[in-house]
Amino acid sequence: LSSIRVDVSGVEPGTQLTVKWLGKPVFIRRRTPEEIEMARGVPMSDLPDPNARNANLPEGAEATDPNRALSPEGAEGEAAEEWLVMMGVCTHLGCVPLGEAGDFGGWFCPCHGSHYDTAGRIRRGPAPENLPVPVARFDGESEIVLG
Ligand code: FES
Repeated sequence: LSSIRVDVSGVEPGTQLTVKWLGKPVFIRRRTPEEIEMARGVPMSDLPDPNARNANLPEGAEATDPNRALSPEGAEGEAAEEWLVMMGVCTHLGCVPLGEAGDFGGWFCPCHGSHYDTAGRIRRGPAPENLPVPVARFDGESEIVLG
């Protein structure tokens, strides 16, 4: 009952969709190769929260870029890391972060100044954790099922 399907066929690289799920915003972003590269280049030691916070992975998985992305079925290489699906809820006090903003090219929470990178990982500011990745999967190439 609580699962929804989202058609992402119209989402171009470098843009994002915000949908409401369980009363909360969910960001679905199709990243550019530059955004992916930026996220991949970050050493784990630079991450305040080293946990992937990805409900689709075992608890304790590392916050590497591939562990944050959602892959379409059978996707390989860059196509496997294009999509980012995350709750649009700041892990500090729950404001909705702004996209394409902040010092790390990802999201910025204007409430108290938390900066998230292009993989939605907290990099600076009071938020303690990465933006959580909800239970999600691709059904085919253009539909994402949340929940
Ligand atoms: Fe986002 Fe405080 S709620 S920084």
